[in-house]
Amino acid sequence: APQVTDILSPEFATDPYPAYAAMREKEPLIWHEATQSYIISRYEDVERVFKDKKAEFTTDNYNWQLEPVHGKTILQLSGREHAVRRALVAPAFRGSELQEKFLPVIERNSRELIDAFRHTGSADIVHDYATRLPVNVIADMLGLDKADHARFHGWYTAVIAFLGNLSADPEVTAAGERTRVEFAEYMIPIIRERRDHLGDDLLSTLCAAEVDGVRMSDEDIKAFCSLLLAAGGETTDKAIASILANLLMHPEQLAAVREDRSLIPAAFAETLRYTPPVHMIMRQAATDVQVSGGTIPAGATVTCLIGAANRDEERYRDPDRFDIFRQDLTTTSAFSAAADHLAFALGRHFCVGALLAKAEVETGVNQLLDAMPDLRLADGFDPVEQGVFTRGPQSLPVRFTPSTV
Ligand code: HEM
Repeated sequence: APQVTDILSPEFATDPYPAYAAMREKEPLIWHEATQSYIISRYEDVERVFKDKKAEFTTDNYNWQLEPVHGKTILQLSGREHAVRRALVAPAFRGSELQEKFLPVIERNSRELIDAFRHTGSADIVHDYATRLPVNVIADMLGLDKADHARFHGWYTAVIAFLGNLSADPEVTAAGERTRVEFAEYMIPIIRERRDHLGDDLLSTLCAAEVDGVRMSDEDIKAFCSLLLAAGGETTDKAIASILANLLMHPEQLAAVREDRSLIPAAFAETLRYTPPVHMIMRQAATDVQVSGGTIPAGATVTCLIGAANRDEERYRDPDRFDIFRQDLTTTSAFSAAADHLAFALGRHFCVGALLAKAEVETGVNQLLDAMPDLRLADGFDPVEQGVFTRGPQSLPVRFTPSTV
């Protein structure tokens, strides 16, 4: 069948939503030559692949997608090995841990960033805030030296470039692979040192974690920390930029949130549905699988379009409308990350950091609204989203009345 669109074309990168709608309607299962994968776009199909109730899919694709920059991470593991690893790391990201240990870290880092520009009357939310907060928070949670935050940011940028390297630029590939080496040279001695002097930080928790007699090696912990940079940085920064862009573009909803802060979780959920940070996740079929009237053959790669599934008219009413009051999206409680959109995936690999992301975004929005009672977009500015695998506003210039702390 002729392809509705090419997911690697420039028009697609500018605005994928018309193409997503056409795929859902006319080509819910298509072979895509350039990525050598089958693309699915309907909510029902993507949900089924993520939930994977019959163990028809693996994450073996991450062996070539992630291994060169991170080494072996939890995302590459499956079966019992994955379950044990998940049990080793997940407790550190529970609501109770966040509340006690990490909420203060988030609040402090957010305040520091805001204090750096609140007296100026203008800022770029993407550059000055969103891209910095998640990386600073993770580095701080791990108990790393503040002085190393800039290096962290550099590694993070190189990893993100590697993961989004659609044109396979050899320099970007080389820089990504170099990051793996440099990150290991940096982290491994710190991990060894920390094992001897356990503290109250995330790295100590990972060093001490034990499940059924299994513990993580230095290499396992280093790979996990590397994944945290990308999985927790690149995604949460997009979520922060997107929630603010969506609210600033819908002033009546921004006013409602400003008035009643208990609406922030609903704004967060709707932002993740409407503008998810991660638009595509791949899997590999372990067996022949029937999807939307076609067959994905065993061994084939499947590209799951989260961005398309989250706008499926079979699942959401008026899906192309940003509406924090929508009735078909449950707003979860403060300590639950459960979601009925697909932005965090579902099933075994459901985002470990979902609650952390939620806490960062909610704290960020609250603090920005507190510090800037008249926060608004710079005159004439329309946020431009960019990205294919991950996607978010490239820049978000705002104005406000300057204030001091
Ligand atoms: C997994 C999205 C924030 C750590 C995932 C997956 C998605 C996702 C879609 C599933 C990947 C797959 O199934 O192949 C997001 C989004 C975030 C976010 C949209 C922000 C809004 C974070 C944060 C952290 C984190 C803050 C931690 C610091 C992880 C880890 C996994 C994961 C470790 C792998 C879980 C496993 O394999 O069992 N995330 N994430 N994420 N995320 Fe997040």
